[in-house]
Amino acid sequence: MDLGMTSNTVKLCYDHGELELPLIVGSEDEKAIDISKLRSATGHITIDPGYVNTGSCQSAVTFLDGEAGVLRYRGYPIEQLAEHSSFLEVSYLLLHGRLPSEKEFDRYVYEIKHHTMIHEDLKRLYQALPKDSHPMAVCSAVVGTLGAFYKELVDPRDVAQVDGAALRLVAKMPTIAAYSYKYSLGQPFMYPVDSLDYPANFLHMMFATPCEEYAVDPLMAKVLDLLLILHADHEQNCSTSTVRMVGSSMANLFASVSAGINALWGSLHGGANQAVVEMLDALAKGADTPEEFMNKVKDKKNNVRLMGFGHRVYKNFDPRSRVLKKVCGEVLSRAEGSCRLFEIAQGLEEVALKDEYFVSRKLYPNVDFYSGILYRALGIPTNMYTALFAMGRMPGWIAHWKEMHVDPAFKIGRPRQVYVGEKKRDYVSISLR
Ligand code: ACO
Repeated sequence: MDLGMTSNTVKLCYDHGELELPLIVGSEDEKAIDISKLRSATGHITIDPGYVNTGSCQSAVTFLDGEAGVLRYRGYPIEQLAEHSSFLEVSYLLLHGRLPSEKEFDRYVYEIKHHTMIHEDLKRLYQALPKDSHPMAVCSAVVGTLGAFYKELVDPRDVAQVDGAALRLVAKMPTIAAYSYKYSLGQPFMYPVDSLDYPANFLHMMFATPCEEYAVDPLMAKVLDLLLILHADHEQNCSTSTVRMVGSSMANLFASVSAGINALWGSLHGGANQAVVEMLDALAKGADTPEEFMNKVKDKKNNVRLMGFGHRVYKNFDPRSRVLKKVCGEVLSRAEGSCRLFEIAQGLEEVALKDEYFVSRKLYPNVDFYSGILYRALGIPTNMYTALFAMGRMPGWIAHWKEMHVDPAFKIGRPRQVYVGEKKRDYVSISLR
């Protein structure tokens, strides 16, 4: 096969002829070859392990330029949103495609606040699970089960139902996550408090008890809000692609997002925030010196990675990690244990950015490198970090799911394969084998 390119088509020469393939150009001049007619015209498919070169859709939600370190939600730079916006405003932006007017935002906040409780019967689901369950297992189970409690909100073709489901997911996720922690401790679940804003409400549900007054530290609520903003979307990552894939079968939004939570759990994706802090904790306890650890990372036979480093798309810097590193510096004077981890993390980064192994592979800190250190400063237990990532990613998952369902090119997600197994052979009865 041979490819020849003109300004708006690509000519593919293959065994039996030639095929003109349209060239698609995005609003930021990204170019893609449209191969949707490839198999019907040529009998060939493409193969692309890990989808490294494959665009699964056209999307207007988030723009990411991994070479330039650019991230924008609906056109707005992440740095501006981090400085001036709030997580709920960002969630509105992602879900509706534009920033809300004051009146629209007040209404949205009111609606969110009035859907924060979970059904009393749903609490029994927690009791069916072991107390030491990972919070991601609990969150995916409870979120998936919402589909059983809101049967009137499960039709993907009904816009009002989808909007109702979306509102409940954004509103209830902090309650669902905080209850997983309370259950693990054996403490009573704390009801959401409408007078608190979104991040403060979560911290209250996590750390308050019915026995004593608990005042949320406004700085910690602000830091949490920032973390949620930075995690709110990241175009076609593993969990978002999972949410789209599951939704493409016409599974309801609750089921699709529950699958996304499971995809996020893995240590190569959202689970890296937990893995980074476990790595830093081990170094703080002297398991290895930083030099010994970096040597282990570079020696492939150890199968050890510098967690929180590297990214499929960012080949320069991850703008989210820059914001988080700056905030770590500002906040950590108040939290001693985390300060030590911050020092170790900065030391590892400094070494990595000068080391040929990392430089030649374009490996830079990603969002997870510094986020866990901030979660530690907020007093969040290590195994809850990825659940907080899920809370932040919720509006992004929903925005993509909704976008997919109104896309004129909508189809069930169903990749093909190149079969490399046995050729046809005849069954042999068990006594003759
Ligand atoms: N430490 C050491 N080496 C690494 C790391 C790392 N963190 N990341 C990549 N490499 C190496 C690979 O071993 C490979 O080396 P090779 O070319 O000699 O074989 C090369 O860099 C390319 O790595 P791939 O795994 O092919 O890159 P890919 O784009 O498939 O993976 C990923 C990206 C999964 C993020 C990877 O960089 C990684 O495992 N990082 C650590 C886990 C992590 O932090 N994940 C969070 C990502 S952000 C997010 O999902 C929210």
